Amino acid sequence: MATQVKKKKVFIETLGCQMNVADTERMLGLLDEIDYEQTQKREEADLSILNTCSIREHAVDKMRSYVGSWDKTRKPGSLVALAGCVPQQEGEGMAKDVRVADIIIGTHNLHRLPDLVLEAEKKHEVNKLNSVKGADQNIGVYAARPQVAEIWEELPEDIPETPIFRKTKYYAWVNVIYGCNYRCTYCIVPKTRGDQRSRPVAEIKKEIEGLAQEGYKEVILLGQNVDGYGLDIESNLATLLREVHEVEGIERIKFLTSHPCDMTFELIETVAELPKVSKYFHVPIQAGNDYILKRMARRYTVERYMELVNYIRKLMPDASITGDIIVGFPGETHEQFMDSVKVVQEVKYDACNTAIYSKRPFTPAATWEDDISADEKQERIRFLNAIITETAEKQAQRYIGKVEQVLIEGQSQRNPRRLAGRIFNNKTVNIECPPELHDKYIGTLADVKITQANAWALRGELLI
Ligand code: SAH
Ligand code: SF4
Ligand code: F3S
Repeated sequence: MATQVKKKKVFIETLGCQMNVADTERMLGLLDEIDYEQTQKREEADLSILNTCSIREHAVDKMRSYVGSWDKTRKPGSLVALAGCVPQQEGEGMAKDVRVADIIIGTHNLHRLPDLVLEAEKKHEVNKLNSVKGADQNIGVYAARPQVAEIWEELPEDIPETPIFRKTKYYAWVNVIYGCNYRCTYCIVPKTRGDQRSRPVAEIKKEIEGLAQEGYKEVILLGQNVDGYGLDIESNLATLLREVHEVEGIERIKFLTSHPCDMTFELIETVAELPKVSKYFHVPIQAGNDYILKRMARRYTVERYMELVNYIRKLMPDASITGDIIVGFPGETHEQFMDSVKVVQEVKYDACNTAIYSKRPFTPAATWEDDISADEKQERIRFLNAIITETAEKQAQRYIGKVEQVLIEGQSQRNPRRLAGRIFNNKTVNIECPPELHDKYIGTLADVKITQANAWALRGELLI
């Protein structure tokens, strides 16, 4: 990567999941090669990128309102790019629709970003010369603003290797599988991310060896269905975990998101066996009722899900389990919703994300009647969240008095007198520590005695 002082500045706002966070790191890596460095101040940016998410309703409106407000305060003559899942979903329609953007790029062709930016820069220069001198430059440029949209391309055969500019210094997100082969009836992801493509084991291992050399201590293997890793290349996640486990210098390995349909007992046994793999499973159930699961096309029953959970608990009683649940799926009765509540009480999640069902274009469920009132959905999610908080809080108490090894990630954002990090099983911990000692601990694995716990985080003391 080039190291000289950069001439141009890029601001990126990232919405959505870890896939987008990883894509943002990739975009920054690509832009580094054409002389851009990141800025946190949008007003000084030569290029502003919105990396969009499309998982919920109103994604397009949200995108428009973002760039609309950017337009008023942007640096004169600067470029705006729309990236991520909304452009990928909307395809060619975007170019006509969103007049404010100079560059529109999807998730499939991210590696083309530098070319598109250079092209847009060139066109911009021409427009600048043509615009009325002395008048608001932006208006002249704006009126003739070119659209550079390249979103309808086929997926590249092999995923091109692109540079990555990682924001985090001690743990790294590593994409191991792109896309998803399932078609859950509510979900936009197959549309925005395409079919499943696993990266070869050797390529992933090489990347992680490089990370270890740079001083990274933890890797998080990433996929929309990470348990499906290898199904398309005659490998599997258990094999990958064993390979990654051999990398010296990497002390912790995590993986997410698991799918109950592809999670195997072999995988659970492998996690239990390998000391560097966190005993942490993010395994969304989505609904606690078999009929709803069937309508969601989830391909497992509640019984199978509980078998997996019970096997995890049998081999790793202290494991941390988290999940996702959708409330108010079309046709979900009150009794069926209460089955989700029952699952939460039975599993005793360490944390569980909940979302009100949201109609997404191009999905089968979008054609079904969204028959539960907004008030009812709100009431259900409020009720479920209260139970989740209660069980998560109880679960967290098991850490009190224990000594946990914590990867110290940095200063707490809320309180500069505290450090923040994560225990082996992923829970966040805040640690009182005088600021003059912070540099000594940041980036290390430190022993911390846990003193307090709530549903969201732990509090602890360094054992010096
Ligand atoms: N691949 C993961 C989930 C990816 S999407 C899995 O199979 O579980 C992340 C989360 O967003 C989902 O777990 C789901 O809870 C939520 N979600 C996805 N589509 C949604 C929709 N249409 N309405 C509400 N929530 C949704
Ligand atoms: Fe979406 Fe289902 Fe694929 Fe998860 S498994 S990304 S919910 S289609
Ligand atoms: Fe959103 Fe795209 Fe992730 S739709 S949840 S950013 S894969």
